[in-house]
Amino acid sequence: MMAALPNHIPSISGTSLRKNDPRSRLIVALDVSSAVAAQKIVAALGDSALTYKVGMQLYTAEGPQVVRDLVASGRRVFLDLKYHDIPNTVGAAVQEAARLGVSMLTVHAGGGGKMLRAAVEAARAVHPGLLVLGVTVLTSLDEHDLEKVGFRGTVRDEVLRLSALALANGCRGIVTSAHEASTLRSELGDDFAIVTPGVRPAGSGHADQVRVVTPAEAIAAGASHIVVGRPITEAADPAAEARAILGQIGG
Ligand code: C5P
Repeated sequence: MMAALPNHIPSISGTSLRKNDPRSRLIVALDVSSAVAAQKIVAALGDSALTYKVGMQLYTAEGPQVVRDLVASGRRVFLDLKYHDIPNTVGAAVQEAARLGVSMLTVHAGGGGKMLRAAVEAARAVHPGLLVLGVTVLTSLDEHDLEKVGFRGTVRDEVLRLSALALANGCRGIVTSAHEASTLRSELGDDFAIVTPGVRPAGSGHADQVRVVTPAEAIAAGASHIVVGRPITEAADPAAEARAILGQIGG
């Protein structure tokens, strides 16, 4: 058997979070191509970020060891592989993800109620605290794209319908843009997580280029968690950038 790679991530095991610690809301996306690049970012951030999103790029390049290393170092992992397959296959994949010790993972709400229920039940059986998040409409799709793939409603209608389906089948959270977060809160309540990407720090100069929101705007819209990638991971000083964002999230 091949020996596991040495874990180069400095441990922060034992770090406990007080209520209202903004670090519980910040997720840093490790959209890089190697474990070494990921380790550099995590080490640079130290204890200014505790939760990391491992998506399909890093997972495809490095496999589950990168997740095990993060978990072993005391970080939380959001495994964003957006599972979408038959219920049996998704349930089995979620079971393996739960065994890796991830804290959050994504499934496509469009996979249907049976698939969502299989994911939720598999997660519960291994790790009851694991947050299974439903992905609704990808933020890259507009109404025109939706119509071409056969959806008839507005983006808002689709997000609302798919979110309701995910929650009815046991998901305890939704991934959605901040632009739909307030609708979800007013229509579906407060009793679930809303994870929002597309966040840019205030004053970064990106706000007029793409449809993005600031951390404070995302939280005000009802997000429980924000995902930030490149503004932190490509910053000259990632820890300083993360601390600035934590300041904007507030207590
Ligand atoms: O743009 P940034 O590097 O902050 O993206 C971080 C993560 O947020 C990406 O991994 C991507 O999955 C997600 N994202 C998204 N929709 C956007 C922008 C980013 O889902 N509009």
